[in-house]
Amino acid sequence: MSTTEQPTSETADPYFQQLFADRIGGANYGKGTAIYKFEKIKRAKRKALADHPQRELLDFGIGENDSMAAPQVRKTMEAEVNKPENRGYADNGVAEYKAAAARFMQRQFGVQLDPETQINHCIGSKPAYAMLPACFINPGDITMMTVPGYPVAGTHTQYYGGEVFKLPLLAENGFLPDLDKVPDDIYRRTKMLVLNYPNSPTGRTAPAEFFEKVVALAKEKQFIVVHDAAHIMLTFDGQPRSFLQTPGAMDVGVEVHSMSKGYDMIGWRMGWVCGHPQIVRAFADVKDNSDSGQFIATQIAAAAALDDDSIPAAINAKYRRRAEKLVAVLKDCGFQCEMPGGTYFIYTAAPKGTVDGVEFPAAEDATRHLIEQHGIVTVPWDDAGPFLRFSVTYVAADEAAEDALMEETRQRLSAAKLRF
Ligand SMILES: Cc1ncc(COP(=O)(O)O)c(C=O)c1O
Repeated sequence: MSTTEQPTSETADPYFQQLFADRIGGANYGKGTAIYKFEKIKRAKRKALADHPQRELLDFGIGENDSMAAPQVRKTMEAEVNKPENRGYADNGVAEYKAAAARFMQRQFGVQLDPETQINHCIGSKPAYAMLPACFINPGDITMMTVPGYPVAGTHTQYYGGEVFKLPLLAENGFLPDLDKVPDDIYRRTKMLVLNYPNSPTGRTAPAEFFEKVVALAKEKQFIVVHDAAHIMLTFDGQPRSFLQTPGAMDVGVEVHSMSKGYDMIGWRMGWVCGHPQIVRAFADVKDNSDSGQFIATQIAAAAALDDDSIPAAINAKYRRRAEKLVAVLKDCGFQCEMPGGTYFIYTAAPKGTVDGVEFPAAEDATRHLIEQHGIVTVPWDDAGPFLRFSVTYVAADEAAEDALMEETRQRLSAAKLRF
């Protein structure tokens, strides 16, 4: 707006612009000009489609399961949705779901939990990360979080006046945080450590000894541990491992599970928090003051899913197969990557440029180039070195379609003449 122009009703701030809380930007809320990563990807996709309308985008950027929930789960939902007793508020959840989660934890990991006191559902695991800081964080307290990673617990820590201490996940440390490097004054203020294995986006799993070290440190330095197990049923390098299997883990923390990834139930919004009863109780108290529980029919359908181990087994087999195929293609095209220990992500060092002289100073530049010039979509991560994330959740009707997509990927990546 020029200095002579008068503000119109469209450009003038609303009277409440000054009222926004500092935690979301205060009076500057909504005025930022920074363009976020996923918006940049969207823009590059639009440009690629406009410049090459005939070329199909090979989309490895989507981080969501590509299939619907299993037919038997949808059938249970269909029946439960018509039962009048399921119509009301679910509050902190129904016993059927807690019992199914307890059976699941026992069967999969040998972890014994009292469903009454040690398990509480959540409406997907994301809101659990928004609520757990409310249980522990006062102004000035610290949450330690791994980066790159799922940021929600950190955002809410900051909303409560707390601080985030970032633990970089580096290739040279096997993508495990170096807990010995954390200064003692940080430990003194730390109340929560958030971990996530199988890790998104690095795809690495944690060895038992790492979890043992975490339990010992939590007791010594007096913080709680929140383990994000969203991708646990997508473990490829052995049996899935729960943090709660670690001796003493139940004394120091909780594990948060999700039905989204391992059960193709992303949109259903179901998960649970389990572990130390006093932490589960605090979570349930905050949750009770925040929402009124997931629809009971959904909880009962999710309980049926949890009792059927063939569901996560089939989903695991599909994403393992797809990851193996993509890793082979990427290796042939010069990427230094290996099969992830888990998750449906392949996280691999970004190319530095092309042999024709294009430079990629950051992973974001590599992503933009691959989308715009070659119609290949990835997600860049620059938090701990330049890396690209390829997700194998692309849409393909059958294995023949997967193979055709892999062949096309190989051809385009070869033509890209990348330099590493
Ligand atoms: C590492 C990780 N944790 C948690 C979530 C949240 O999953 P949901 O809220 O669907 O349970 C996601 C989703 O992308 C994730 O990648």
